Amino acid sequence: MPLSPTHPMLRPGYTAPPLVQAYRGDRPESTPVWFMRQAGRSLPEYRELRVGTDMLDACLDPALASEITLQPVRRHGVDAGIFFSDIVIPVRLAGVDVRIVAGRGPVLENPVRSAADVRALPPLDPEALRPIREAVALTVAQLGETPLIGFAGAPYTLASYLVEGGPSKEQLKTRALMHSDPETWHALLSWCSEITGAFLAAQIESGAQAGQLFDSWAGSLSLADYTRSVAPHSSATLDRVRDLGVPLVHFGVGTSELLGAMRGIGVDAIGVDWRLPLDEAAHRVGDDVTLQGNIDPALLQAPWPVLEAHVADVLARGRAARAHVLNLGHGVPPDTDPTVLTRIVEFVHAHG
Ligand code: CP3
Repeated sequence: MPLSPTHPMLRPGYTAPPLVQAYRGDRPESTPVWFMRQAGRSLPEYRELRVGTDMLDACLDPALASEITLQPVRRHGVDAGIFFSDIVIPVRLAGVDVRIVAGRGPVLENPVRSAADVRALPPLDPEALRPIREAVALTVAQLGETPLIGFAGAPYTLASYLVEGGPSKEQLKTRALMHSDPETWHALLSWCSEITGAFLAAQIESGAQAGQLFDSWAGSLSLADYTRSVAPHSSATLDRVRDLGVPLVHFGVGTSELLGAMRGIGVDAIGVDWRLPLDEAAHRVGDDVTLQGNIDPALLQAPWPVLEAHVADVLARGRAARAHVLNLGHGVPPDTDPTVLTRIVEFVHAHG
């Protein structure tokens, strides 16, 4: 589908916000900043709103999802909202029994492990995405000049939850399937790519001004396996949205050795975790891509002078890239003091 007539990019006199400028390779006056998992349990106002509502039900209630998305934007003054949802929402909307267990993550009643399991995966009815479209439109109408980032799980990370049946450290069953039954593997990743691409497209069409593909667990793969068995499916996911004209970001954890290949699927920006300094990351990916990151989430618990010095160092190293969007190296830990995040935003806007 084309962009909705209410998409911010179609407003008369639209100019790209600083976040979009940076993703496109310009350096706005101050470095844009947002945080992965900025919505959620670090915020008392989120915990209050979520009482009595299941996580995935909250994601599918447009008014609730929209309000939760706006909370961190109001509180911290970040340069973007990220749509409150979850990577397994398209799995649920296709009719697969998946729940989110607090403190653990997505859990499947029946893991997907055989060729027959993969064949039985239902298609995603485009109508099922209506609550997502509604929530995004509601959110964008209230965000004003602040852009909304849409997101989706990459096929590999999504498949890892389907195959393992829940969160796992090393995705052993998933990687075994990749090598044991390549045909089933490619069918599974094609299904994931199809549903997650439709989920991302729904958000961008309805008003999101950027899209981030989360391949959170790609770091468990060798470069050869990533390149051969995963990257083509991630690229296919983005093919679904390339014509919509918004910048695309690609992120994973522990992916220092994969950054070039992750860049290679065709994106405007690469998210870097805390393990690799941004100047070294810039050296690895080249000067035609923006970098996003990479504050070590552990330092959110350090005394302010320690954290401040770290943020200043991240900003300095980020100058090696063509442009930089400040973020964490992974999501906000749930026990983070939210006033620390606000202080980072103030610091970056003053010094970045
Ligand atoms: O602010 C935001 O970043 C907004 C939305 C967001 C959520 N999940 C909300 C959420 C995003 C972008 C995600 C993506 C997501 N979900 C990823 C990729 C990003 C990453 O962290 O690497 C992954 C791997 C998942 C799967 C998932 N969902 C996990 C591992 C968990 C955590 C389980 C727990 O309780 O610790 C979830 C649940 C989840 N998704 C929560 C939130 C706010 C916590 C649930 C709650 O508050 O009850």
